[in-house]
Amino acid sequence: MPKRIKKKIAVIILAAGKSTRMKSELPKVLHPLCGRPMLSYVLDSVGALKPAQVVAVLGYQQELVRKLIPKGVKIAVQKKLLGTADAVKCGLAALGGFQGTVLIICGDIPLLKKQTLKKLLEYHFENNVDATLLTAQLKEPAGYGRIMRDKYFSICGIVEEKDADEVQKDIQEINTGIMAFKKEKLLAGLGSIRLNKRKKEYYLTDIIKIFAKKNYLVDGVKIKDAVEALGINTRGQLAKANAIMQKTINDKLMQDGVTIVDPPSTFINFGTQIGKDTVIYPFTVIERDVKIGKRCFLGPFAHLREGSKLADDVTAGNFIEIVRSRIGNKTLVKHFSYLGDCSVGSDVNIGAGTVTANFDGKNKHYTVIEDNANIGSDTVMVAPVRIGRFSATGAGAVVIRNIPDKTVAVGVPARILKKKG
Ligand code: UD1
Ligand code: CA
Repeated sequence: MPKRIKKKIAVIILAAGKSTRMKSELPKVLHPLCGRPMLSYVLDSVGALKPAQVVAVLGYQQELVRKLIPKGVKIAVQKKLLGTADAVKCGLAALGGFQGTVLIICGDIPLLKKQTLKKLLEYHFENNVDATLLTAQLKEPAGYGRIMRDKYFSICGIVEEKDADEVQKDIQEINTGIMAFKKEKLLAGLGSIRLNKRKKEYYLTDIIKIFAKKNYLVDGVKIKDAVEALGINTRGQLAKANAIMQKTINDKLMQDGVTIVDPPSTFINFGTQIGKDTVIYPFTVIERDVKIGKRCFLGPFAHLREGSKLADDVTAGNFIEIVRSRIGNKTLVKHFSYLGDCSVGSDVNIGAGTVTANFDGKNKHYTVIEDNANIGSDTVMVAPVRIGRFSATGAGAVVIRNIPDKTVAVGVPARILKKKG
């Protein structure tokens, strides 16, 4: 989009709502998809448009949601949750004297792509429309506002599911909740919206009928891939969106040279970096803030948790849990082990069943395993502890003191058996 047009766009993100249908204490927009709050995806797509101003309307638990909002985005607080029209009013107040087009987007539509927003805005500007709606054609439109068209096929209103009669419920074109308005007309229209008596809320969607009556130009752009329109109101929809997002993440990793043996059983958080020719076996779960090098083997049943960094040629095999740890090049952790809060060097072999006892009931402690160490099966390292370079532990050792370089330690508690030559 040309810069001249970007300057004329302000975005209002509606994110004040409660999680009524989610039945959650956590605000809906903070529920994660692939380890990342759904609102962050929306903020990304909006940011990509480089609009002149962005306002996020917050309300329910706003002090929590606020933490996600980047610096350049203004915050407007909706004190009483009186509906989407009221939320837009709050957002507009924060825009001050802005003149131009206002794009309204809900914080619960995380699958929406920035290209789709661009298309909507291009259409809006090229055709000089007063209100352009992003619509979608759904086979199962239940839950969404339905787009009403007159005999000339012009949009003449939106009817919400709760207020729709049987005929209207059969309409498959729905309101995605994303709309572009000329600001002054939006302001004028908002003033005419009456309270919906059934829900005791002011519906933004009522503005369309008002526009149609005033002969303002209303038009729609239909989303190509209806999946993008998925609005998340329930846990079921959250799971559905999560699966779609996961597929996108896995597809991208495969495109970039990672082998994922069974994508549907592989769960990788947003933002995970994985090097080429790494192979991931089924039932592997990789959480946020994890980095994996090239030619690694992961799983089956590996759980790599936050803050784990694996260098190149590492194996983290069957039933392995790793958290807040660094693992060096060519290190092998092949069978049921727990490594937490540790730094493991390169060319280390971690025997089956090895455990870092990192928690003393109050605090977490760190374990260091230096290069070329050989940890015997079933070793427990009671942190804080350090295993020296080229050192080894015997099977079943319980290490409670540091082991110097080139030393073999065995037993419970582990005692030094010999110095290696
Ligand atoms: C809304 C639309 C519906 C559309 C659907 C698309 C209305 C009345 N209905 O319904 O036509 O098909 O989205 O997903 O607009 N919010 C506030 N303040 C409020 C109420 C809501 O900020 O007082 C925010 C919510 O946080 C949410 C968004 O507005 O991000 C939409 O609200 P929600 O309750 O999810 O609306 P839907 O019932 O999904
Ligand atoms: Ca919604």
